[in-house]
Amino acid sequence: MSFQNTSLFPSTANINRQDHLEIGGCDIKDLATEFGTPLYIFDETTLREQCREFTSSFRKYYPNTSVLYASKAFINLSLAQIFLEEGLGLDVVSGGELAVAQAVNFPPEKIYFHGNNKGQDELESALAYGIGRVVVDNFHELGLLSQISSRIGIKQDILIRISPGVDPHTHAYTTTGIIDSKFGFPIQTGQAEEAIRKAVQDNNLRVMGLHFHLGSPIFELEPYISAMEIAIEFASRVGLQLQEISPGGGFAIGYTIDQAPPSIDDYAKAITSALQGPDNPLLSIEPGRSISGRAGVALYSVGASKEIPGIRKYVSVDGGMGDNIRPALYGSQYEAVVANRMGANNDDLVSIAGKFCESGDVLLRDIMFPKLEPGDLIAVPASGAYAPAMASNYNLATKPAIVLVKDGKARLIRKRETYADLIRNDLL
Ligand code: LLP
Repeated sequence: MSFQNTSLFPSTANINRQDHLEIGGCDIKDLATEFGTPLYIFDETTLREQCREFTSSFRKYYPNTSVLYASKAFINLSLAQIFLEEGLGLDVVSGGELAVAQAVNFPPEKIYFHGNNKGQDELESALAYGIGRVVVDNFHELGLLSQISSRIGIKQDILIRISPGVDPHTHAYTTTGIIDSKFGFPIQTGQAEEAIRKAVQDNNLRVMGLHFHLGSPIFELEPYISAMEIAIEFASRVGLQLQEISPGGGFAIGYTIDQAPPSIDDYAKAITSALQGPDNPLLSIEPGRSISGRAGVALYSVGASKEIPGIRKYVSVDGGMGDNIRPALYGSQYEAVVANRMGANNDDLVSIAGKFCESGDVLLRDIMFPKLEPGDLIAVPASGAYAPAMASNYNLATKPAIVLVKDGKARLIRKRETYADLIRNDLL
């Protein structure tokens, strides 16, 4: 790929005089030497810029907007602290994500709890912390939540998650707003209406409004516009006065140079266009990937190569599906550069394979690259969101270290796992 299309990389990305990739003023080769590879590098400037752009773009069209970061797209203590400083809220989907928020004293009223099977223990700890909203997904949860609220003597604010029946044309695994989905109360079947009737009558719950999430990543604006209209029309039909409405997240980023996602401003304009009535409900949005995705770059070292004459050349790196399952799981495509010689000519057709014991562990297929040598550094942009979030210990690989870069300084924000970590919970 040409580095010219820098919108895939963090906004501070540069090529320095040594012909190395530089992010946040840090030479990538120096980072590899200091922290080892595979390494995930987060650019603090890009993270903060994305937070600010969401807030300002949406508020430009609709001042009563609140922005929550979707923690599932990747969270740890340092990122949570940054989102806190930027004034965002947090969407959490598990007791684990909630624990990270609590560890940085995230204001509970700014946290929303999602999920299609929240456990009793998870709901209890969320309510005990004073969580802002529970986004109720199904009838089982409605009952459970009512009992817990009653037991601790509060009236919990909730949103009802509806399934508006809109197809956002994403990968089938990440589509959620259609009728055949495990998430939310469908409008078409009458279950959404029934849920609202039950919840409104429940003295332990306060229905603030509606939530939907269509899927991710969504490259089109139309699904958001239709779903907003459907949700607003539905609320008025069933007599629910909307104090809040949320279209969730799903805002796309570019992973490859040929992808042209809408801008944040485009999404803001489209989503808020449905909110032109006299009511002024709070609009809450939940971007995940579009905040952390571009801010993160994965860095690998080249090792072995295998050329099958007339068929394909595999060049293997020291990470793979353990730190980024997306190519293997969704067929996701990425771009990459040779970070230690950015100016080299792309004259070799290669596939970049991971080191995991599966043939499907190929990070990039059939791309033009310079002739790679062992020790070369491969940087993969747009790796900040779901790659580290979905990392595993498959093959008992240790999860990579993560550094945060800014103004020429790099700070380790997650240590590389050790073999001791891998057996810490094992018992003989
Ligand atoms: N809100 C809700 C209720 C969600 O379910 C999600 C994502 C988001 C917000 C944030 O979506 P984002 O803005 O990050 O697109 N593992 C997949 C993505 C799964 C998304 C799940 N829900 C991937 O790697 O592409």
